[in-house]
Amino acid sequence: MSPTANPKFKNPRAKFNFQGRTCSITGVGSFVPPKVLTNSDLEKMVETSDEWITSRTGIKERHIAAKDEFTSDLATRAAQRAMHQAGITADKIDLIIVATITPDMPFPSTACLVQRKIGAHRAAAFDLEAACSGFIYALEIAQQFIMSRTYDTVLVIGAEKLSSIVDWKDRNTCVLFGDGAGAAVLQNRPNAHGLLTAVMGADGEKADLLFMPGGGSRCPATAESVASRLHYLRMEGKETFKNAVQAMQTAATEALRRCEIDITRIKCVIPHQANRRIIDAVGERLGAKPEQLFVNLHKYGNTSAASVAIALDEAVASGMVRQGDLILMVVFGAGLTWGAAVIEW
Ligand SMILES: CC(C)(COP(=O)(O)OP(=O)(O)OC[C@H]1O[C@@H](n2cnc3c(N)ncnc32)[C@H](O)[C@@H]1OP(=O)(O)O)[C@@H](O)C(=O)NCCC(=O)NCCS
Repeated sequence: MSPTANPKFKNPRAKFNFQGRTCSITGVGSFVPPKVLTNSDLEKMVETSDEWITSRTGIKERHIAAKDEFTSDLATRAAQRAMHQAGITADKIDLIIVATITPDMPFPSTACLVQRKIGAHRAAAFDLEAACSGFIYALEIAQQFIMSRTYDTVLVIGAEKLSSIVDWKDRNTCVLFGDGAGAAVLQNRPNAHGLLTAVMGADGEKADLLFMPGGGSRCPATAESVASRLHYLRMEGKETFKNAVQAMQTAATEALRRCEIDITRIKCVIPHQANRRIIDAVGERLGAKPEQLFVNLHKYGNTSAASVAIALDEAVASGMVRQGDLILMVVFGAGLTWGAAVIEW
């Protein structure tokens, strides 16, 4: 008897001959909280200057969430804008992925809180932790579900309230970060290309370059851990900088290689918005012209997983990216982690 004559189970993908589908981004949206913290505000908090911050990072100001405004609130606002642009209602969403290192709580996931807030009651929901690389990681995971025909509509969000884990007494780090969220709706659209490839990488050997010591199973919250300021992020700035440039160049080059294109075919490079000097160094190594680089970090600082998601939304809204253009997104973060994606808009 042939093995298929009396199958013990049915593989749902068999009816599509196990072939994948393309994955399009049908809507994007972003949100930053209204409160702005400028470099001159920071001059009153730590020993720093607008001149130092601007020349070393390019950052002029960042947005800071209110006390009663959490990562899930920022994520929800960005998601609603992306859903509006995609023309979908919450009941269409099959899966919600929230990339974040600042969840509202250790559990339940921020994705579940977003599911409740937008009323996406049919959707599965989980968080993803890949620090500043989280949005590219989430896009790649979402793409797998759509290509494999498991889901039709996936909501991907990068959202952070980094102000909740920044040590406002540490001038080495507090000038760099901000709060915000960006979202994308991923769906299959006939004859549309969308996400062409996504590269993901990691190097746990360098986990100590950028981390938060307290709050996990290794160092739960105690009076001592709070007094020792262990619940704030810590960073080796110079080493992180060097690794960022190298990893972003490698990831971007691999993404271009997979698509068999060179940088001249890319209309818009959207790099992780951590430091203007990192962006310029990566752009130069890739051979990108300054006008190809999308930069908005002067307004927001580093918003980690939200960074490239906000930038993608703004690049599209600004008219820099039009239908048919190729976009290269490239990210780097704690882990270490890195990634790059090529998207046909
Ligand atoms: C943090 C960073 C901006 C520092 O810039 P840098 O050019 O490496 O700075 P340097 O090490 O040359 O200078 C450090 C000096 O500035 C001082 N300094 C640090 N922060 C300062 C601030 N906000 N204002 C004024 N001085 C500051 C330091 O105390 C140090 O002084 P010292 O030389 O007397 O010890 C840079 O290393 C960086 O961006 N790193 C990567 C960060 C990043 O992207 N992280 C996220 C990855 S996702």
